[in-house]
Amino acid sequence: MKILAIESSCDETAAAVIKNGSAILSNVINSQVEIHAQYGGVVPEVAARSHIEVMIPVIEQALNDASCSWSDIDAIAVTKGPGLIGSLLIGVLTAKTLAATKNKPLIGVNHIYAHGFAAFLTDNSPQFPFLALTVSGGHTTLSLYQENLSREVLGETLDDAAGEAFDKVAKLLGLPYPGGPAIGKVAESGDANAYKFPVAKLGKDSLDFSFSGLKTAVLRQVQEITGFNPGALDAQNSQKTYHLDEQIVADIAASFQKAVVIALVTNTQKAWLRHNPKSLVVGGGVACNTELRSQMHRVLPEAIFVPPVLCTDNAAMIGALAFQMAQNDIYIKPDELTADSSLEVI
Ligand code: KG4
Ligand code: ZN
Repeated sequence: MKILAIESSCDETAAAVIKNGSAILSNVINSQVEIHAQYGGVVPEVAARSHIEVMIPVIEQALNDASCSWSDIDAIAVTKGPGLIGSLLIGVLTAKTLAATKNKPLIGVNHIYAHGFAAFLTDNSPQFPFLALTVSGGHTTLSLYQENLSREVLGETLDDAAGEAFDKVAKLLGLPYPGGPAIGKVAESGDANAYKFPVAKLGKDSLDFSFSGLKTAVLRQVQEITGFNPGALDAQNSQKTYHLDEQIVADIAASFQKAVVIALVTNTQKAWLRHNPKSLVVGGGVACNTELRSQMHRVLPEAIFVPPVLCTDNAAMIGALAFQMAQNDIYIKPDELTADSSLEVI
């Protein structure tokens, strides 16, 4: 079965052709990161406009790369949520139109589920039920997935997502957007024990996360060092109005990263021991982080890490989940498919 998958929930326009839920025949990603970097974050209207411009060429490229014509495609899959509504709409409208005009079955996919199901594209496919830690710019979730594709959310962030915390702290340190890769890089030359940043403790039984206290602790530290009040972290002008020594930036970045990694690894280990699943998957943009990978692997050697190119937003993962949905006969009629910016179910 060959699925053409489309993804446009945030700032990547992507299309892929996936065979039998595991083989990537093509995986085209048009990133808008350079456009948004000049604003220090994703601007929703700019993202939607860019999706409109490149959507059709990206799909044509995916078919081309896979050496497929429309007659080879058995179904069309698209991200229906969660994400930025203007961005989601472009993918959803494109998929609905193509499904109707090319007469193909349609599958509407949940982006967050798909980050975990990207693991089916590796040599080491997960076994159901599997635990997934999904750490992205918008979500930090520990979920348990069953073979019938039902999901139990075991823990999630009560405030900022892990990726969001990376992006905000990077901005505070004068590092470029996206902040995660920038922090990961400078942290390599930093001392992770230079600053003691708090790891939120939400009770012995809780598998939830909280990163806002950590973010505030970094803000206070920067304030103490520079004597400058950067104000609210979200303020556009909090950048470059004070100077931080390169080594201090590296030390803060490493100490911050250490605190995030401790929170993620501790709760994942608790969930693993408590629910005894067959596999563990770590995916989403923050799963590119090398410190997270090495600490998680140390504690949970069975963890399946989604490869970096499939961790950040892509359409291959949408195709991987769509295949599982097709196996469970979960299709949707074109006139019933809508974009849902806060989608929680499959
Ligand atoms: O999954 P993703 O591409 O988009 C969402 O669905 O949100 O994740 C993007 C997030 C950004 O916050 C980015 O800073 C973070 O993933 N990220 C990283 C790394 N690479 C990307 N965070 C930490 N370390 C990295 N190496
Ligand atoms: Zn994502």
